[in-house]
Amino acid sequence: MQLLDIGTYFTSEQAHLARPAVGSELSDDAVRALHTYPNDLDRPWIRTNFVASLDGSVSADGASAGLGTPADARLFGILRELCDAVLVGAGTVRAENYGGVSLSTEAKARRVASGLAPVPTIVVVTASGSIDANSRLLTDTDVLPVVVTSAAADGSQVAALRSAGATVITVTGESVSTGDIVATLTDLGFLRILCEGGPGLFGQLVADGAADDLCLTISPMLVAGTAGRIAHSAGASEAPMHRAHVLGDSDGTLLTRWVRQP
Ligand SMILES: NC(=O)c1ccc[n+]([C@@H]2O[C@H](COP(=O)([O-])OP(=O)(O)OC[C@H]3O[C@@H](n4cnc5c(N)ncnc54)[C@H](OP(=O)(O)O)[C@@H]3O)[C@@H](O)[C@H]2O)c1
Repeated sequence: MQLLDIGTYFTSEQAHLARPAVGSELSDDAVRALHTYPNDLDRPWIRTNFVASLDGSVSADGASAGLGTPADARLFGILRELCDAVLVGAGTVRAENYGGVSLSTEAKARRVASGLAPVPTIVVVTASGSIDANSRLLTDTDVLPVVVTSAAADGSQVAALRSAGATVITVTGESVSTGDIVATLTDLGFLRILCEGGPGLFGQLVADGAADDLCLTISPMLVAGTAGRIAHSAGASEAPMHRAHVLGDSDGTLLTRWVRQP
């Protein structure tokens, strides 16, 4: 894998960074530097990471793994290393059989040296509370998850999740609003957020103007089929973004980063 910078366009938060030469091969340190969160955050900064096919599909055979490439896997790990919390919808947790974040000893040490917890916490959003308390999310993890759920959640599911060690936060409405999500993350002290989708949760964030930063991997394949795209919501909305960078791998993968216009 030869990850090349084929166009870097610095945001004001990155202006202090040394600019890699266009066409130069990037080290992990350089990729990390290109994805630094803004300094001095006073609210959660919500970055979302997706991989999509050339024809815009978010999955192949029901999961995103079929779209993955070595460069996408490398970025996926680096983005997890940089965040306080991974925010994810319950549909993705169920479809992808989520476990906790797993990081190398070196990655944990880098996090601690920069003032982060050794491992980020997974924060799951679910209206129904339908998360299996025996699933990998609770059994294969260093850090127990936070589950943000609604007043309509199934009481026995909530009780089972609590007994399994999850922190369950129940909001007053029948769904979890973007305001609820932001307030929960703020209360927990999580400001560097990595949203891993899926399209339902991301669609809500886009519609509510809360998608600050999008890392979109374009996988060099066509898949057709019936899968949806990276965001869906009841109504359409426009959120102009500016391009932060485009990285390319020799297999054709493009790693793109887009930041919301102020
Ligand atoms: N290509 C990629 O990078 C990528 C990334 C992520 C996911 N995916 C794919 O996307 C598909 C899943 O799509 P999806 O739209 O179902 O994903 P999703 O957004 O993760 O899940 C939707 C579900 O999450 C819960 N949820 C989301 N937002 C909520 C809110 N504001 N309030 C309350 N509950 C909320 C609800 O769960 P309850 O039903 O429990 O109430 C809802 O049914 C899978 O095929 C997955 O592989 C692809």
